Formats: sequence, C-alpha cells, structure tokens
Amino acid sequence: MGKRKIDAPATNGPDMRVNLAGIAMKNPVMAASGTFGYGKEYAPLVDLNKLGALVVKGISLRPERGNETPRIVEAAGGLINAIGLQNPGFDGFTKKHLPFLKKYKVPVIVNIWGRSAEEYAEVAGRFDGVRGVQGLEVNISCPNIKRGGIAFGTDPRLTAEVVAKTRRKTKLPLIVKLSPNVTRIGEFARIAEANGADVISLINSFPAMAIDIETRAPVLANVTGGLSGPAIHPIALKMVWEAAAAVEIPVVGMGGITSEKEALAFIIAGAAAVAVGTANFTDPGIILKVVKGIEAYLVRCKLKSVRELTGSLQLS
Ligand SMILES: Cc1cc2nc3c(=O)[nH]c(=O)nc-3n(C[C@H](O)[C@H](O)[C@H](O)COP(=O)(O)O)c2cc1C
Repeated sequence: MGKRKIDAPATNGPDMRVNLAGIAMKNPVMAASGTFGYGKEYAPLVDLNKLGALVVKGISLRPERGNETPRIVEAAGGLINAIGLQNPGFDGFTKKHLPFLKKYKVPVIVNIWGRSAEEYAEVAGRFDGVRGVQGLEVNISCPNIKRGGIAFGTDPRLTAEVVAKTRRKTKLPLIVKLSPNVTRIGEFARIAEANGADVISLINSFPAMAIDIETRAPVLANVTGGLSGPAIHPIALKMVWEAAAAVEIPVVGMGGITSEKEALAFIIAGAAAVAVGTANFTDPGIILKVVKGIEAYLVRCKLKSVRELTGSLQLS
C-alpha cells in the first residue's frame, strides 16, 4: 500500500501507521471534510499533531457564500445539513488558513469541488505543488449544491470524466470521495480507480429532509440536506465493504463513527483508514478517543499493526 516507505514506529505499542498512496499518517483516523473547519477552530481543544490526517472543508476556485440559513438541523441519530459548500476559495484558503495548518505535523488533505469537470481539474491544478498540502480529496458527492457534487458521483460517465481530468492536473495523491446515492457502489469505486484515483473515500451524507409540523414548512432553507451521523453507519459499512472488495487501491471509510467500534468495523470491512465527521460537533476529543480505542483493541487482540486488520472480515 502506498508509494513511500513507512518510518519506524514511535513507541513499543502496536504500529498504528498507515500510508495512503504517499500520505504518511501516524494513525488511521482523520477528520472528515466539513466537520473540522480549517483546523484552527479545533486547535484550542485538540492536539492536531495527534490526528492521522486533517481533511479541510471543501474548497472551490472562487469563494462561495453557501446556502441560506437555517442550514443545519438535528435528526434522530444524526444531523441534516445544507451548508452548500461555503468556502473562501483557493486564494482565501491558501492565504488565510494554510499558513496556520503548516505549523503542525499533520498531513493536510484539501477537499475540492467544482461546477464542471474543468473546474474540478482547474482547482486541482492550482493546488499541485502547493507546500503544506499532502493530498486532495475530490468531492463528487455533495448533495447540497444544485449543479455539480452528487450529479458527478451518481453518473458513471461524469465520474470517469471528473476523475480523469483532475488526475491530469495534479501529482498530489488523489482521493475520490464517492456518493452513497448509487445502487452499485463497487462499479463507481472501479471507475474512480481506472481513471487515476489513488485512494477512494466513502461515504458522503444521504439526501434527506426535515419538516416543521407546526408551520408545515421545511426546516432547512434549502428544503433538503444531507443526513450524517450514527443513523448512516450500517449503510456506510456495507458500502465500504463492497467498495473495498472492488478495488486494489486503499479505501477510507466514514459515516457515523462515534467510537472505536464503528472505526474498527470499517477497517475489518476493508478500510485502510477512517474519518470521523458529525461526532466532532458533540465531542471535539472524539478522534483521539477513537485512536486510543483502536490501539487498545490491537493490544487485546495481540495484533502488531493496524494494517493487519484491514479486510480481516471473517466470512464462512
Ligand atoms: C456540516 C457538514 C459539512 C460537510 N461538508 C463537507 C464538504 O465540504 N465536503 C465533503 O466532501 N463532505 C462534507 N461533509 C460530509 C462529511 O465529510 C462525511 O462524509 C459525512 O458527514 C459522513 O460522516 P459522519 O457520519 O461521520 O459525519 C460534511 C458533513 C457535515 C455534517
């Protein structure tokens, strides 16, 4: 797995390091895009150096205002959000946020998106060679923007086009973030791999809505949003398992991780690494608890390395 060799472990404990196509991570747990801001927001609460990797909120070529408010509502077992990919654009991110993140010893992965395949490729090209950025995560799965996002991730031809065009513009490791809104996830995983993805990540949130029964109006200004959190974990697990079986490249599993248990299930299902999203809002320290929990599990099971656990699902 990966191009770069893995350095010696820091402690005598189990080896927690993973290498995602050249992104050297000290443990397999990363912060999911959109749920950890640009790191600064969490820095007073969490030692960023202890994260496996930090994926920033989605960046586009130009700044975006996002959707009108209200754009977030709690649901039983999760959260429905329709932020609409608000972001400061390439220039805003590289000038305002990246210098802060560069002070830390944590791989920074930039989540990117565009409104056309050309725009995805252009933003990827702008990041190519930018110091302090270790990889790109291509979001072809956002349910909250009218053009782009999910439309790319649910159409095999558009998935192939976005990935191929983006690949040509950057040498950075390319993580393609798949949409869960498809019937055969393995097919989309294979298309991403065939068109140059180094890694795939899944899942993004599910299209969903909430209605205020007193006003009989939708709660979100955008009417619909994306459901994330514990409610989606079992579905995510099945999709990660199918996607991992379909490709040779590493898989990052996410969706509803609230403890090491869900993270371990993703790894056993075939994920090389995992990302924690919605749970960061209720407990900013959750990622580090998940890291400790995985380590304790490896000790209990007498496993030397977390890499041994990937894809160890027992099927009789
Ligand atoms: C408020 C919010 C904002 C998000 N923004 C992005 C984004 O900008 N890009 C992206 O690829 N995913 C985004 N996501 C999706 C998460 O990265 C993750 O795929 C999803 O929430 C499932 O994981 P979870 O159940 O642990 O939250 C966002 C999720 C939430 C809750």
